[in-house]
Amino acid sequence: MLSPPSPGSPGPPRRVFIESFGCQMNDYDVARMREVLRRSGYEDTQEPEEADLIIINTCSIREKAEHKAISAAGRFKALKERRPELLLAVGGCVAQQEGEALLRRIPFVDLVFGPDQIARLPQHVGLLSGQRQVPARLRLRVARTEVIDVEDYEFLDADPRPGDVRVTALVTIQKGCDNECAYCIVPTTRGREVSRPPEQVLAEVERFVAAGAREVTLIGQNVNAYHGIGTPDGDDFAELLRRVDAVPGLLRLRFTTSHPQFFTRKVAAAFAELPRLCPWLHLPVQSGSSRVLQRMRRNYTREQYLEQIAWVRQACPDISLSTDIIVGYPGETERDFQDTLSLLSEIRYDFIYSFAYSPRPGTPAQHLPDDVPPAEKSRRLQAVQALQKEITSERLGRMVGRTEPVLIEGMARMGNGQLCGRTGGNHMVNIDPAGHTDPRALIGQLVPVTITAARTHTLAGTLS
Ligand code: 5AD
Ligand code: SF4
Repeated sequence: MLSPPSPGSPGPPRRVFIESFGCQMNDYDVARMREVLRRSGYEDTQEPEEADLIIINTCSIREKAEHKAISAAGRFKALKERRPELLLAVGGCVAQQEGEALLRRIPFVDLVFGPDQIARLPQHVGLLSGQRQVPARLRLRVARTEVIDVEDYEFLDADPRPGDVRVTALVTIQKGCDNECAYCIVPTTRGREVSRPPEQVLAEVERFVAAGAREVTLIGQNVNAYHGIGTPDGDDFAELLRRVDAVPGLLRLRFTTSHPQFFTRKVAAAFAELPRLCPWLHLPVQSGSSRVLQRMRRNYTREQYLEQIAWVRQACPDISLSTDIIVGYPGETERDFQDTLSLLSEIRYDFIYSFAYSPRPGTPAQHLPDDVPPAEKSRRLQAVQALQKEITSERLGRMVGRTEPVLIEGMARMGNGQLCGRTGGNHMVNIDPAGHTDPRALIGQLVPVTITAARTHTLAGTLS
């Protein structure tokens, strides 16, 4: 017969289910949440029904993203009614922005916590899970959105474990953003910029590599403004790239997101100089009109941006470029919009992310009249996407027939025995293993793949 658990024994592990929305920073934060919770006795589950704790990690970059995240909470309402001991938490940027108000807006949520509170998540959850015996209506509900001062901010070190780590890893190099792009909520939700010390960045890259990662993407809201080193020429980001590029065992290095205002010639030159730095640059332009860029407070003109693209193409002529575009910004005229289309035609990005302007609370642009009607925003968005579709098709088409080094990330989602991976230019490739007896053994390897076809957003290839 099994003996009953002794008093004070930890009992069976509790389970956490996490659903996340938004950017890579949110993906990174979720990975840290899993780690801090694992250390306090939680296991991950993919099944909300069997969870003791459900976390929704939200994004507030556009109104649509915010709605998506809030309605995700609604999907767990019935579950929460059935199992009142289940804890429901909302984290991320909507949580940070709304705080207590979110507890009122979603009455069945137990905990609201901002991105700076991840390290303290076990304490917050511990406090709330101690009230299992308390009737639901009397239970404490908590909103924790304190922002840690820049001087006191400590980055949470990732704790990658062999067998648990993907081929590609995200490593944060900064948090927050000191820019004031007029449309953007990030400075409000993520606070002032803090650069992570380079020793921490390098140690984390080394830990990921030791645990099996082969590619690292350095992430931050404005990586070019990184200033954690204090180099004499002030170009700390170029120096950080150089140091990370030299980490033994690392096969590939990427970074995102860049801001043109801080993008330097030295970083452009790194594409020619650093052997592991992939030929891909995501450089959000937002608009092709200097007038709109000024109204967005982006601090560069169309001409300056084009010059930076020229530096990059000089260093790496076949580089794959991507960008973010906002259409329908307050005051954007048809002429401004045509400038965006002409910029796309001129630069010929491999891919773009395009959005209709969405006014965000507390941003400088919120006070500008949102004067491009929704139907016109949609028309402009469709026009941008139609033009880009042609350009992407031409850009992907140029790859057909080439043999490219591809880092194999795993089995393709379609489940037809194909592998998937990425080119240096960040194009996803589905790969026919061409009779290879053990395709799985190739995961994590950089292998030559002959590109056989270009699809809408991806490539097809075969092992060479
Ligand atoms: N409306 C529309 N798009 C936005 N973005 C940021 N804020 C807004 C907004 N208020 C877009 C920008 C940014 C990307 C991450 O999201 O293009 O680069
Ligand atoms: Fe969304 Fe920006 Fe927050 Fe990322 S930082 S989750 S993009 S609002």
